[in-house]
Amino acid sequence: MTEVTKICCIGAGYVGGPTMAVIAKKCPHIQVTVVDLNEARIAAWNDKDTNNIPIYEPGLSDVVAEARGRNLFFSTEVDKAIHEAQMIFISVNTPTKTYGAGKGQAADLKWIELCARQIASVAKDNKIIVEKSTLPVRTASAIKDILTHTGNNVQFQILSNPEFLAEGTAIEDLDAPDRVLIGGDSTPEGKMAVQALVDVYANWIPRERILTTNVWSSELSKLTANAFLAQRVSSINSLTEICEQTEADINEVARAIGTDSRIGPKFLKASVGFGGSCFQKDILNLVYIARSYGLQEVADYWEQVIIMNDHQKRRFANQIIKNLYNTVNGKKITFLGWAFKKDTNDTRESAAIYVADHLLYEQADIAVYDPKVPESQVYADLDYLRTREQEENKKGVSVFKDPYEACKGSHAIAVLTEWDEFKGYDWQRIYDNMLKPAKIFDGRNLLDADKLRAIGFQVRSIGTNVLEK
Ligand code: UDX
Ligand code: UDX
Repeated sequence: MTEVTKICCIGAGYVGGPTMAVIAKKCPHIQVTVVDLNEARIAAWNDKDTNNIPIYEPGLSDVVAEARGRNLFFSTEVDKAIHEAQMIFISVNTPTKTYGAGKGQAADLKWIELCARQIASVAKDNKIIVEKSTLPVRTASAIKDILTHTGNNVQFQILSNPEFLAEGTAIEDLDAPDRVLIGGDSTPEGKMAVQALVDVYANWIPRERILTTNVWSSELSKLTANAFLAQRVSSINSLTEICEQTEADINEVARAIGTDSRIGPKFLKASVGFGGSCFQKDILNLVYIARSYGLQEVADYWEQVIIMNDHQKRRFANQIIKNLYNTVNGKKITFLGWAFKKDTNDTRESAAIYVADHLLYEQADIAVYDPKVPESQVYADLDYLRTREQEENKKGVSVFKDPYEACKGSHAIAVLTEWDEFKGYDWQRIYDNMLKPAKIFDGRNLLDADKLRAIGFQVRSIGTNVLEK
């Protein structure tokens, strides 16, 4: 295998876009072309003003500004990019199936298969195919099957190279990852393909941080990493309920256990529930795989992480209802934050969606403010649940561009995302314009509760038992 000089990536989303931008930045000698079927998305990536690229991620627009047009290209010409590249990353979405066998659990591999078929029909010379999307274990063999049976008699090597970047810190994570994982065959051709990808990353990542394994270990490691991380969040969240019944404070408990070096301080932040495109999907995948091998106890074990997370979201909504004298009918409740975490405009599986849905069921009047999420996305997220007619979602939810307007005249504020800017608001001004008693439900333990209480707010922070005075 000769040195890689041309890379193509299929899928210009939250993973493909930032990952390729950083590869292009770090490897000026490699031409990187990101392709996508979605013309509007590609047009946005090519927008003259790099502040208008379709994904909000701190530092990303600078990286794109530096590399775009030099060795980073965004295009809808999928065939051409596949044809030219020696190495093709597949970074298309793999949502949970919404139909048929495995509905609600298994990953829908429709797009992956389509990509494989397209690569097979276009490729005229040997290619290395890199799975970037998170996939069920043994997907590589399905891809290989399609490529070898429908291709033009050229050789394909399939590598698994799962992404560990977290949204909101994607550029830092890509710049200095804890590790890069590459899975490949142990045949001589497989080893050469692995080496070719190692060489790409070695342009900026120390070699000892580039781990190589067999394909299946690599695929399973990605699911396992996300399952462990999500499990930590569900574990700490399960304890918030105990804290609220006792004199314990979840922040103190997290600090106390986090100083044990075996446990470590990260991922112990209590919340209204984890969201994002990966955690739930990957655990469901793990559960589905375990069930399909008849491993009932293993499946039940991991499923509990999701059950706990769903419980946490519902519990938060129920607390709001209970505290507003058991009825929210017609009451304005302001949501600060809609994204699934701070510093991203991504809302997939955000807890806010489910909390809003529950409150809408109780006929609340919801006002939403999020610094980065547009109005259309809020409605799209609620409509996607199909709980009620689109008109009803429009009627029950209003989206604001100004946080003070969003809070004006409301009975309660619920903090759903931990955006830093919420901490710096003029809370006295917000208090003065709210109905009394003015309540705050802090689903992220973000705000300074004592300061707010001094103003007059009644505050409930998740995992503390201090009730309103
Ligand atoms: C990623 C990963 O790839 C997925 O495995 C992970 O578990 C979730 O996150 P992400 O980049 O976040 O996906 O998804 P998304 O932002 O939806 O981007 C995927 C892109 O692929 C979309 O822009 C879509 O238009 C494109 N696509 C999809 C194609 O270009 N061709 C297809 O056949 C299907
Ligand atoms: C995750 C993994 O971290 C990343 O390695 C993988 O590649 C993709 O999935 P992401 O979903 O982007 O990344 O964000 P992450 O920071 O993991 O947060 C996921 C969710 O957990 C968010 O809703 C976040 O608010 C929540 N969370 C995280 C908590 O509630 N408490 C914590 O302590 C940490």
